[in-house]
Amino acid sequence: MLKLKNIYYHPSTSERAILKGISLDVKRGQPLIISGASGTGKTSLLEVISGMVSQNKGTIFYEDQTLTERQRRAMCGVVFQFPERHFIGMTVAHELRLGHRRLSGDLQAEVLTKVGLGLIDISEFPERLSGGQQRRLAIAVQLIRRPKVLLLDEPTAGLDWSIRDGILRLIKKLSQEQYMIIVTHEPEIFSSWNITNYQLETK
Ligand SMILES: Nc1ncnc2c1ncn2[C@@H]1O[C@H](COP(=O)(O)OP(=O)(O)OP(=O)(O)O)[C@@H](O)[C@H]1O
Ligand SMILES: [Mg+2]
Repeated sequence: MLKLKNIYYHPSTSERAILKGISLDVKRGQPLIISGASGTGKTSLLEVISGMVSQNKGTIFYEDQTLTERQRRAMCGVVFQFPERHFIGMTVAHELRLGHRRLSGDLQAEVLTKVGLGLIDISEFPERLSGGQQRRLAIAVQLIRRPKVLLLDEPTAGLDWSIRDGILRLIKKLSQEQYMIIVTHEPEIFSSWNITNYQLETK
């Protein structure tokens, strides 16, 4: 179980606290949806959980161990909103190898197959892929790190519905194998999944 207990986050650059007393549990194989209107702190919560920023109060546990920010950074894979805007690799293979110079061909193939890009030309420019393929590549980039927790910020934002369904199927499949937290302002698109929706409230 991944557990947040009474998380309070008030960066010095903000007049007000962004997160106040957030407590929630995530079970392996049962994704958690975090929803709420714009500005309610969804992305900030992902940043805290993944150790990119520090909470001011509260504790995050993984299987009953308290986690430091550093441990969280190592174990979390975050796919931010519109991840394709941040591709910097010259090719698909290059994008996957950033930070993993010794990435084995086997792992690369395993991860690409897992996200449904098994047949892709790895010498292709990432910007030449379709919108759905780019999202899949962004997820693959995180899976290469073998994260214990996958955090997805608005994973279907800006996609046509036909492409969106494929991405939703992929996310559902991945969520059966690991801890997953999905941020969305449209929780209804996950309504058939029968999973917990934690709603952040407007302050
Ligand atoms: N480091 C920071 N310093 C000051 N204010 C911040 C900081 N990070 C976030 N905020 C503010 O906190 C609020 C919550 O931001 P956040 O991006 O987490 O919301 P969100 O729910 O993800 O919104 P959206 O749905 O628009 O993506 C916003 O008002 C934002 O401007
Ligand atoms: Mg956000």
